[in-house]
Amino acid sequence: MKVAIASDHGGYELKQKVIEFLKNSKIEFKDFGSFSTESVDYPDIAIPCAEAVAKGEYDRGIIICGTGIGVCISANKVKGIRAALCHDVFSAKMSRRHNDANILTMGGRVIGSGHALCIVKAWLEEEFDGGRHKRRIDKIKSYEELSY
Ligand code: RB5
Repeated sequence: MKVAIASDHGGYELKQKVIEFLKNSKIEFKDFGSFSTESVDYPDIAIPCAEAVAKGEYDRGIIICGTGIGVCISANKVKGIRAALCHDVFSAKMSRRHNDANILTMGGRVIGSGHALCIVKAWLEEEFDGGRHKRRIDKIKSYEELSY
């Protein structure tokens, strides 16, 4: 599995913890920045990362800002992206099983790194259930085809 990871300044410290986890788990990844706690605008970070996932260059994306909200809104503007803001393990698992989320977003100012890493691990391990959930995802895709 190849993972694209990104954050703004608000998510920088948590991103570094997630990168450490990915390295320890021997999961291939690319860091799309930011590379310091200097203030940046979250769409500038989230959209290129989401585009790389949408193009199929990476299997999944993880994007972090202060709350997880700005990067989630930004990533979901990219055609083919289903970004899910998850701050608990149950939602993270269900975002994979029912929504086939291809990007996980979190807020570095919302949760501690220990909890965040449990969420990341659960989210990366979980697969899409398909079946009736695929029908629902297909409806989102049909809408995207008409509107983009
Ligand atoms: C940056 O201050 C903050 O607004 C950003 O990290 C994020 O929380 C936006 O949704």
